[in-house]
Amino acid sequence: MKFIPFSLFLLMIFSLLSFSCTKKSADTIVIGNYGSLTGSEATFGLSTRDGIQLAIDEFNSAGGLNGKKLELKVYDNQGKPEEARLSVEKLINVDKVVALLGEVASTRSLAAAPVAQQYKVPMITPSSTNPEVTKKGNFIFRTCFIDPFQGQVMAKFAVNSLKLKRGAILRDNKSDYSMGLADYFTKTLTELGGTVIADEKYASGDSDFKAQLTSLREKHPDFIFIPGYYTEVGLIARQARELGISSMLLGGDGWDSPKLIEIGGTALDGSYFSNHYTAEDKRPEVQEFITKFKNKYNVAPDGLAAAGYDAAQILLAAMKRAKSLEGDDLRLAIAATTNHPGVTGMITINSERDAVKSAVVLRVSTAGSATGGGEFKFVESVHP
Ligand code: PHE
Repeated sequence: MKFIPFSLFLLMIFSLLSFSCTKKSADTIVIGNYGSLTGSEATFGLSTRDGIQLAIDEFNSAGGLNGKKLELKVYDNQGKPEEARLSVEKLINVDKVVALLGEVASTRSLAAAPVAQQYKVPMITPSSTNPEVTKKGNFIFRTCFIDPFQGQVMAKFAVNSLKLKRGAILRDNKSDYSMGLADYFTKTLTELGGTVIADEKYASGDSDFKAQLTSLREKHPDFIFIPGYYTEVGLIARQARELGISSMLLGGDGWDSPKLIEIGGTALDGSYFSNHYTAEDKRPEVQEFITKFKNKYNVAPDGLAAAGYDAAQILLAAMKRAKSLEGDDLRLAIAATTNHPGVTGMITINSERDAVKSAVVLRVSTAGSATGGGEFKFVESVHP
């Protein structure tokens, strides 16, 4: 036969591929990572991947797991929940991963977690803070704090430290993270005697926020709380200043990206957000991590790189302690994590499979931003 049908050809390629996969799995152990490597949240996925890879390289250099090397398989979901779900299906069924690290954005962790739970493959999200994520089942863990805490941290900061009480909210109604954090923030603000005088919405991917901002402007808020991701936040800050709004801008961990200042510029100067990590932390875990990361990638790590590194280290330590790498054995070993001295703080996993740990408040300083400078300065650390 001269021509083989294309579908047959594809099938042949796939079987060759899966053969090479199963062959390789005899001497390597595969860990899966899924994230946004492209799109408006690309730095989330890229930084996380780099942090995880650093931890895996170190583990392999130290001998691996009983002589076996670990390999990280990474899929890009382009920031789409449905792609996140498909990536996890592929990591489990084709790549035969023993565990999953991901996602950053809560909406995508929420989309993929049921798949991990269904196949009994442990999943650790380094940075999804929406409480619902780990409620998807006993195979789903996180190594970061949750949004009820983060919302409280920023509301207290507004009222107690900044003495600002009349706030407006601008939230992303396509993001579970944003919707939740806005609610938790509102709850504490109100308890502290503050008021939300306006609550406006946008959708991830929007680039024009003038209508919402114009309506907020009329109410003269002391501050605007924007629990969004860096691309939209940068644009919102710019447009707010263009419209003559001088209110203080506040946010959460979703601001953390080297691109934030690039997009928002001086419009963000002096605003504050809560986060998982500060490079100013003098603990050796932090400073050694920064040096190793810079040596490998030639850039300074952001909070997501640190969170990815911590989640990977917790998984690797659990793999060492586990009776076997079977789902239930590995799950129990992860659940037993106590007092892990991470870059993002001391990590203990509680009975809800969440981590209880401190948050930091950072101030955006855009001095030098025209030439690529600008930074996040440590303000305070808040313990739960
Ligand atoms: N906490 C965010 C979420 O749940 C993700 C995030 C974490 C983004 C840390 C940036 C930095 O969606």
